[in-house]
Amino acid sequence: MNAFPKLFSPFQLGSLSVKNRMVMSPMETHLCDTEGFVTEEIIAYYKERAVGGVGYITLENTAVDPVGRVNDGMLCIHDDKYIPGLKKLTDCIHTAGGKIVIQLSHAGKEALPYFTGLKPVAPSAIPSPLTKEMPRELTAEEIRDIISKFTQGAVRAIKAGFDGVEIHMAHGYLVNQFLSPESNMRTDDYGGNTARRSRFAREIVEGIRMHAPKDYPVICRISADEYTDTGLKLEESSEIARILERAGTSALHVSACNYASAFYNIPCYYLEEGCFVHLAAGIKSVVKIPVLVVGRILNPTMAENILQENKADLIVLGRTLIADPHYPNKVKEERLHDIRTCISCNRCIESISDKRLVCTVNPYIGKEDRCRTAKTTKPKKILIVGGGPAGLSAAQVLSDRGHTVTLWEKESQLGGNFSYASLAPKKELLGKFLDYLILQAKKANVEIHLNTKATAESIKQFSPDAVVLAHGAKDVPVEISGAQKNGAIGVKTAFLRANSLGNNIAIVGGGPEGCELADFLVSNGKKITLVEMRRVLGLGLVAHPRYHVCERLKKTGTQLHINTKVVEIGHHSIVINRRREADQRLDGFDTIVIPTLHQTNTALTDQIKSFVPEVYTIGDAAEGRTALEAIAEGVETGVKL
Ligand SMILES: Cc1cc2nc3c(=O)[nH]c(=O)nc-3n(C[C@H](O)[C@H](O)[C@H](O)COP(=O)(O)OP(=O)(O)OC[C@H]3O[C@@H](n4cnc5c(N)ncnc54)[C@H](O)[C@@H]3O)c2cc1C
Ligand SMILES: Cc1cc2nc3c(=O)[nH]c(=O)nc-3n(C[C@H](O)[C@H](O)[C@H](O)COP(=O)(O)O)c2cc1C
Ligand code: SF4
Repeated sequence: MNAFPKLFSPFQLGSLSVKNRMVMSPMETHLCDTEGFVTEEIIAYYKERAVGGVGYITLENTAVDPVGRVNDGMLCIHDDKYIPGLKKLTDCIHTAGGKIVIQLSHAGKEALPYFTGLKPVAPSAIPSPLTKEMPRELTAEEIRDIISKFTQGAVRAIKAGFDGVEIHMAHGYLVNQFLSPESNMRTDDYGGNTARRSRFAREIVEGIRMHAPKDYPVICRISADEYTDTGLKLEESSEIARILERAGTSALHVSACNYASAFYNIPCYYLEEGCFVHLAAGIKSVVKIPVLVVGRILNPTMAENILQENKADLIVLGRTLIADPHYPNKVKEERLHDIRTCISCNRCIESISDKRLVCTVNPYIGKEDRCRTAKTTKPKKILIVGGGPAGLSAAQVLSDRGHTVTLWEKESQLGGNFSYASLAPKKELLGKFLDYLILQAKKANVEIHLNTKATAESIKQFSPDAVVLAHGAKDVPVEISGAQKNGAIGVKTAFLRANSLGNNIAIVGGGPEGCELADFLVSNGKKITLVEMRRVLGLGLVAHPRYHVCERLKKTGTQLHINTKVVEIGHHSIVINRRREADQRLDGFDTIVIPTLHQTNTALTDQIKSFVPEVYTIGDAAEGRTALEAIAEGVETGVKL
């Protein structure tokens, strides 16, 4: 018997038969065209998830009204012209053996006029906490018009073959704005106490119910706690849940937050796994209809336990399925080591603010139909230099495609700089992902040689047909007067030798590495002074983890000096300068850490290109960036060679 019996038990949601308890969360991909039409890329993206075995997919939020479109990356269903494209999508999912529900959405005051060309609307004229854009208060007649637009959206969804609809009532979008005491100050029938604020949501459900077949799934996604001082809390959301149940809702999808608390909505690695389970359990205790739970559910054992403990009926997986569309099938086959784990870094959500969806660990997004690793017709002898994310990714794909692949790594272990990335507190999952990369390279039969440094001479002797140089950046310490003579060390050394650094440590540079090193050393009991010349800390980090790491540093009493330059390093001291102030010496430090520049590293490329037929320089060696680019370039090289 499978180790996850409940997770793989079927479920009936109205007329929708779900083969297991896993649901794909609605997540914008920006793979549609700028007018909101379905594209081949978006079809391929969702088809891959259907093939991967999820119970049903929830299509990303789709605009029922042009004024409620967040930006030009959002799908649309506000006109019949969108039906054929959506029908092509549902047909493809059904042919692949999947089921698909659509999320109907109106962003209200969170719609961006820069894209829509229209003034955003809301229950009350209260600006967006994020964009600060002031919306226009809706009239009662306009409210009724939007309710009917949700109904029309549902009718089109039924025509397009969707197996159900989910109404987006969460995350600070229009329906949530009506439900929330924070954003609804109306004095008419759509504002006031809980029942009156719920009227808009209730009438949407009732409107759809009147036009949809009996038992057609109408799911409501709510923010059971808005994670703000004056927003919805579980107690009031429980009352709203009962109102929605009475209106004919088939199931409640429990999420959390609004735009003011966005750093908690898509929980990054600083937040707990399963952080919204208590909310789903709370809602489940007051309704009879099924409850769906979302929020950093990565581990199938956790998912199984939630179901066994009756805290929810269906498990909603968001980034887990961006990272690995085949997660459900891999869990079913108990191939847990083969799961490409989401590392909760939130590069995905950051990417869709202005372009298409990307993922650090999954370079195939939006290329699902093109990036097939077809066997090569011309097998080559290929040497990979460097066993970091770029080298490991390239090696695995090339070997799987039938080339003879050898990887040389100069150190005694694989992982490159990414090994350091996983040392900071709460970033253990990055280490797990590294284990996955190493395992996949080994399973692909890559011949790996550790403690083997590539030189132009050794490469010549090896005589490969092609070389992939993935040997990382050239690490150069930032030049600061007195640093070398007074024994300042680099970030990587500080990570490795935490126990021998003494207690009082100065870190020069509050960029991504400086902040995470400070967090790491504080958690090792050290006293930290962190100096950053720019006005803000952590620039270069993804916004969500950046917010949390800065909060952590503030809470732990780290001495933070921003807008401050270190002009000299002395013997156990640093001299700092805040603009327009006199220099100040801080002393008594046991260790001083200085930042490292990760520079382009093409010396070996230049040395070998005269005698190696094909040379590719990828990852940080080509340009110091992050694992996302390293992995993507590794896979791209693997596919094209
Ligand atoms: C402290 C720290 C934290 C980070 N945090 C993150 C993060 O949270 N998210 C993120 O995406 N990125 C992070 N990064 C950046 C990320 O680690 C790098 O972008 C990524 O590792 C680059 O991969 P790569 O394979 O190109 O190079 P590397 O990871 O540098 O790997 C290069 C490998 O080549 C080997 N090598 C070098 N020369 C030779 C030679 N001549 N012969 C054989 N082998 C050789 C090296 O030993 C190394 O193992 C972090 C980096 C650091 C230092
Ligand atoms: C790239 C991205 C896009 C998202 N788009 C939507 C959306 O269209 N509608 C919605 O309700 N939630 C959206 N979300 C939130 C997710 O549905 C989900 O609630 C969140 O990612 C937490 O679940 P997870 O931890 O399983 O990823 C999005 C999240 C991400 C990462
Ligand atoms: S970008 Fe990061 S958080 Fe988003 S799915 Fe990929 S690994 Fe997960």
